[in-house]
Amino acid sequence: MRKALRWFGWTVVCLVGLLAIALLFAFWVWFFSARLLGATHEAAPERLPAVDATQLAEGGRQARILGCYSCHGEGLRGRMMFEAPNVVRVWVPNLVELAARTTDQQLAQGIRQGIGHDGRALYVMPSALYSRLNEAEVAALVAYIRSLPPGGDRLSNLEWGPIGRFALAMGGFPSQRDRMEEFRTRLPFDAGPATAFGRRLVSLQCAGCHAPDLSGDESMPDVFSPGLSIAGAYSRDQFRVLMRTGRPPGGRDLGMMREAALNELRHYTDAEIDQIYDYLQARARRVTDPPPRTSQR
Ligand code: HEC
Ligand code: HEC
Repeated sequence: MRKALRWFGWTVVCLVGLLAIALLFAFWVWFFSARLLGATHEAAPERLPAVDATQLAEGGRQARILGCYSCHGEGLRGRMMFEAPNVVRVWVPNLVELAARTTDQQLAQGIRQGIGHDGRALYVMPSALYSRLNEAEVAALVAYIRSLPPGGDRLSNLEWGPIGRFALAMGGFPSQRDRMEEFRTRLPFDAGPATAFGRRLVSLQCAGCHAPDLSGDESMPDVFSPGLSIAGAYSRDQFRVLMRTGRPPGGRDLGMMREAALNELRHYTDAEIDQIYDYLQARARRVTDPPPRTSQR
């Protein structure tokens, strides 16, 4: 009887100890992630030049090509983009509502510095990619957002669940500020002045999925975007069809690539698509990317 009681006592002590450790751990995750999410950052001053009517219209076209509409939705009025239960709920803010209560500086720092209007770091918004935009391009985007009719509701930004907070605390979810350096230093191969314009277009668009230097990337869990030396095998006509419809020569469904083509890439002019093609051909003659990884499905 005494022995049984003693065992019982030890079991209770162990359970209480384990519970205390679990609580301490949960507290640490909560504390650390709250510190990351709550931290405010000082943005560099943005000196945006004035925008004329042509540049304003170009801002609108770029908002489609660069994917602002794909995420921020119809009229850039924001939406619920996706939810991974207990990880994160991605609310994409209503940009016209935001523009009505923020300065050009605040919008511009969100676009290309990864710092929201309130000084908080951005996570899903691809600011690291857009850090490659120049002042005039950002000014045109900001002016374009301001030119849209106001409306829609004020939406929250990201809402983090416990698993998402754990990933944050463990460093598994880098902020856009953490990714800036990568986009600054891993540039697409430079194939010379003749293809500089095409290179600029791909470094601002395709690089968002195909990796900062186009060498291929896991764009989303289990979605692989191949290194773009794969485009070396395309004829000019096949490439035009891919850019306009998202359909490759064999007709395979390319999923995210098809959506990118239909929503974003089709807003390129024919001349731009040819410039992109010329650059990718020149690149493919000099660069061979690692073979594309594929999902296990
Ligand atoms: C992949 C989806 C995606 C794309 C593409 C995207 N955004 Fe965002 N954007 C978001 C999300 C989500 C947020 C909310 C905060 C976060 O990501 O942490 C956001 C936040 C912002 C903010 C900051 C809001 C704040 O709180 O201050 C601005 C400004 C903005 N986006 C403008 C743009 C513009 C302009 C473009 C196109 C050049 C664009 N976004 C493209 C998803 C996207
Ligand atoms: C939103 C993400 C996204 C963007 C933006 C994007 N791609 Fe892709 N792309 C993908 C994915 C994902 C695949 C792989 C699809 C598959 O194999 O199922 C792909 C595949 C490709 C392929 C190979 C198709 C094949 O024959 O297998 C080429 C070429 C390509 N992309 C070119 C481009 C170019 C050029 C741009 C920019 C002008 C671009 N992509 C922009 C996601 C993207």
